[in-house]
Amino acid sequence: MKRFIAVSLLVLGFTSSNANAVVIFAGQAKAAAVCSQCHGITKPSADAPFPSLAGRDEAYLKSALKQYRDKSRKSDIMNAIAGSLSDTDIDNLAAYYAKQKL
Ligand code: HEC
Repeated sequence: MKRFIAVSLLVLGFTSSNANAVVIFAGQAKAAAVCSQCHGITKPSADAPFPSLAGRDEAYLKSALKQYRDKSRKSDIMNAIAGSLSDTDIDNLAAYYAKQKL
């Protein structure tokens, strides 16, 4: 739970300014470092509420992120995070995670 709160604060900081978000999400590796705080990369995410993303279907990941961005899929955390992602960010992240192996 402590980790969850710490990461949530981090995310709020990131999304408070679009300029920051552009810098943060410009690099795929950096973006993955942000997302991996909750989702893991090469192993399943440690905590039950955070689904693993590695090796998932690329089209599914893209559509999930777009749904979080337009809030047709509700999650306080993911709505805040996806709100600052561009189409390019979403394409890069989905492609990145789809290629990772568990
Ligand atoms: C603070 C923790 C946290 C961070 C950081 C985070 N997520 Fe999430 N993510 C969650 C939670 C919690 C859920 C489950 C939400 C739900 O119930 O729909 C989720 C769900 C998802 C899903 C849907 C998975 C599925 O099985 O449907 C995707 C895709 C996703 N996140 C991508 C990302 C990406 C890409 C990033 C980085 C830009 C990111 N997340 C950063 C917590 C986080």
